[in-house]
Amino acid sequence: MLGVTSSAQGLTVEAPAKVNLTLRVFGVRDDGYHDLESVVAAVALFDTLVFEPADGIHLVCGGIDVPGGEDNLVTTAARALADECRPAKGARIRLEKRIPPGRGFGGGSSDAAAALVGLNALWDCGLGRQELTRLGTGVGSDVPLFLASPVAVMRGRGERVEPVAATSSWWLVLAWPDYEMPTAEVYAAYDRLGASMDGRSAATDILPRLAGPARRARRFLVNDLEPAADSIRRGRFDVRGCLEQAGAAAIGMTGSGSACFAVADTEVEARRLAEAVRAAGAKSHVTTLLADGKQQREKPT
Ligand code: C5P
Repeated sequence: MLGVTSSAQGLTVEAPAKVNLTLRVFGVRDDGYHDLESVVAAVALFDTLVFEPADGIHLVCGGIDVPGGEDNLVTTAARALADECRPAKGARIRLEKRIPPGRGFGGGSSDAAAALVGLNALWDCGLGRQELTRLGTGVGSDVPLFLASPVAVMRGRGERVEPVAATSSWWLVLAWPDYEMPTAEVYAAYDRLGASMDGRSAATDILPRLAGPARRARRFLVNDLEPAADSIRRGRFDVRGCLEQAGAAAIGMTGSGSACFAVADTEVEARRLAEAVRAAGAKSHVTTLLADGKQQREKPT
């Protein structure tokens, strides 16, 4: 799904955001990570990364403010690849950030996956998807899924990704508040709440419904982390409540929050919901699911 294009500025990779259409927690592992099953779909909202040869690894960030240097997963990914691909080479990486961080859209992981793919090409490392996936797993649980297909079922800690050939004509309204949700804290709250884990797949429910009307997905956009995220939110802006009030047909929370998304059958309906979110004081973006084999450009909101 991550394609590399070449231009006068260098090699460019567009890194998409994702939404977790479903997320079920099946257990806690000995290493503290959680065993998951999640149906994840890439959406047409992109960060852009441009790679040029340089001495050393340098990251320059523009757009939404995010940590640069060693605190950014792009640098972690670049160093992991440089260690693997001797003799180590350098790069100047420009990251134009559009995916809001800390909301569950996986932007940092997508950027890291894009860095692995872009630098693999720039440095001519010749690593295959499997090797990049192994490196990506070490960088973050969500990195491998961005190396797969636009719709996939993610299992284990996130390292087992099964591509799914699914299409959907749904429109998506991404809606997020002004606060971030720290993933590790949400998982810790999940453990404290002590939910019973029934091990039932949600993928088998949602996948056949992707081709149908949005309202049929209503009961199936389940996310086991939502009660934990709600317990941390403590009275701050309620994105789901806002979308519900606006009359959205089906709503889900993505990742560990803080964002939710609504699915709609038409662009007009999606834009109406997005406007209602904005009028209530939160942010929104209207988009579609990514289709395999083509990188759709971001649609204007
Ligand atoms: O792997 P990553 O750094 O993205 O994970 C962030 C945090 O989320 C982990 O430190 C862990 O607390 C939690 N996590 C988890 N189980 C997963 C993925 C993440 O407990 N499958």
